[in-house]
Amino acid sequence: MPDIKIAPSLLSCDFANIQREVEAVEAAGADLLHVDVMDAHFVPNLTIGPPVVSAIKRVAKKPLDCHLMMTDPQRYVAEFAKAGAAYITIHVEANAPLGETIEAIRKAGVKPGLVLNPETRIDAAAPYLSKIDMLLIMSVWPGFGGQKFIAQVLDTVKAARKLAPELDIEIDGGINAETAKLAVAAGANVLVAGSYVFGGDYAERIKSLR
Ligand code: DX5
Ligand code: ZN
Repeated sequence: MPDIKIAPSLLSCDFANIQREVEAVEAAGADLLHVDVMDAHFVPNLTIGPPVVSAIKRVAKKPLDCHLMMTDPQRYVAEFAKAGAAYITIHVEANAPLGETIEAIRKAGVKPGLVLNPETRIDAAAPYLSKIDMLLIMSVWPGFGGQKFIAQVLDTVKAARKLAPELDIEIDGGINAETAKLAVAAGANVLVAGSYVFGGDYAERIKSLR
């Protein structure tokens, strides 16, 4: 299994002070910065777009992990690449040609990834595992931070780890010190945490996840 990486979700940061938050969470030990992009169609919430990603990029040292919760992510690959995304992950449930979009992300110089909603089976991503750099498994329904971890997804994590021993497998939603242990035991190595990291002492919380 690849090394454990911690990816604080900026969705839970103080948006009035993004630069300060990015610097603080990087100093606290973040490996990646998780950016939740929501389009108000794929999920009932509207968050961050390319101009804000590009502003974050100006102050960030760590790679930006852009999680696109969008119905038509293929239309925005170029913009998010230009804004400075290091990873772009797209949902298998989106209205996108997966193979083509993965290729477009890679051609734009960005690492491509796929995302599975909690009830989506690994089969939906299986044909693409050799073509992606990250598989993100949602452990809450996408749309909002602060929800409760759905333990059933651990079976998907285990199945994914079996199929792809060397792939970065990321888990997102309801991650805290307890659920992180379960996720890592199942085979996840990239831990997204929003409300947990930003809800306390950043360094202590990141350390507890590791
Ligand atoms: C949910 C987002 C998550 C969210 C996680 O749609 O994809 O990244 O910020 O928040 P917590 O860690 O609070 O569950
Ligand atoms: Zn996310």
